[in-house]
Amino acid sequence: MATPATLDRRLQKVLAWAAAAAAVTACQKAPAPPAPAAPPPAAAAVAVDQAEPATAATASGAAAEVSATGAAANPLAGLTPEQAFTKRWTAAEGLGPTFNEVSCADCHDREGLGGSGDPARPAHVVMAPSLHLVGVWPRQAIEGRQPQPKPGDAVTSLRRGPPLFGLGLLEKISDARLAELCDPQDRDGDGVTGHTNVNTVYDQRPGRFGLQAHTSNIRDFIGNALAGELGVTNPANRDPRLAKDDDGASDPEASDGYVDLLATYVRNLPAPAPLPAMQSAEAQAGKALFSASGCAACHRADPDSVAPGAYTDLCVHKLGPKLASGIIDFSAQADEWRTAPLWGLGRRQAFLHDGRTTSLTEAIELHAGEAEASVQKFKALAAADKARLLAFLKAL
Ligand code: HEC
Ligand code: HEC
Repeated sequence: MATPATLDRRLQKVLAWAAAAAAVTACQKAPAPPAPAAPPPAAAAVAVDQAEPATAATASGAAAEVSATGAAANPLAGLTPEQAFTKRWTAAEGLGPTFNEVSCADCHDREGLGGSGDPARPAHVVMAPSLHLVGVWPRQAIEGRQPQPKPGDAVTSLRRGPPLFGLGLLEKISDARLAELCDPQDRDGDGVTGHTNVNTVYDQRPGRFGLQAHTSNIRDFIGNALAGELGVTNPANRDPRLAKDDDGASDPEASDGYVDLLATYVRNLPAPAPLPAMQSAEAQAGKALFSASGCAACHRADPDSVAPGAYTDLCVHKLGPKLASGIIDFSAQADEWRTAPLWGLGRRQAFLHDGRTTSLTEAIELHAGEAEASVQKFKALAAADKARLLAFLKAL
């Protein structure tokens, strides 16, 4: 975590950026540039790629008696999954040297533990062409160290922690089903053309986690979050350059067992159930209007039988310039986002990837691109119908 290069928690971003810059061939043929911030050659990425994907069995094997840190004897044994999630890391244990927050809960606690983040404590995701870098840019540093200044050409996308409820169900959807959910050729002619975002570095699988759907499974995501957001080195992080840092704590700073606890915690966060108001005639009428307005083309109520009521297709869609992040993540372009799951929406206070608005109407009207026709239908609704549709959303 000491140099900008090691801030890159997602190796593949380098490749994605290179592709976007239409420099793929040059990039692949060129040797790795000598600068410290340079990406590793593609071969290194391929080697990482061959690591065994984490299985549910690994995570469910996590007993309560697990030590949090990599050190053999430590005072942190015996954490529960929830205690692992709320654990506040210290510099002596391996926090930093640069970091965003000191615990997972700092960014995932609004509608209860595991919820979304405070928009005032966002993660900065940065893409910097001069550094061939995309990743989390830590805002803070441990005592005696300084956060790295962002390079002048950095594109920054502010992102609020999304709610983690129900992710274990989304993880159970098969890769084949994910491909079926997206309609890149617009075969049904509804103007909506979402696509999967395949992680071409880790596992060649379609992603479903992350706001641009760049990671296929919860454990890989957590390994990167631990390294990128907290500066805690750990065996689940798949970027070899993040295997070690120079903050004085011995690496890996978190054990496999600790990552398993986090994965267990996240996988078991229940999917939000609709609120009692969903039974009202108004909300039920709103549900029909939601479908009639084309919202359900992306926000699919039941993307799969294992994840009923998720209201997402897990595809990435173009939503137009007002919501564009500027960040290219594998095949997800700068204005493409994963359809936000809407379960639990009625308990959320702020909306969209950066939590920029507390108004549902504004969140809807900021959709454009593939959602343009749908938004026009929403805008054209009579006031009473709009109220019905909003009543439905607030009951989710
Ligand atoms: C600084 C705030 C911050 C901290 C700290 C943080 N997260 Fe997150 N989390 C985010 C943001 C922002 C995203 C969306 C990232 C993206 O895709 O750009 C996210 C996404 C996730 C996701 C994927 C959610 C989805 O809908 O696909 C998981 C799982 C997750 N975080 C778990 C964790 C765990 C476990 C920790 C602790 C090791 C953690 N996070 C620490 C901000 C944070
Ligand atoms: C083309 C696909 C698509 C269509 C059609 C669509 N949405 Fe979305 N929706 C998305 C995506 C992608 C996001 C995430 C945007 C972001 O975070 O910036 C989103 C986000 C939202 C959010 C914010 C959720 C949150 O967690 O903050 C709401 C509310 C929402 N949509 C409601 C609607 C409604 C109502 C309609 C119909 C009028 C609709 N959407 C049509 C793709 C779509």
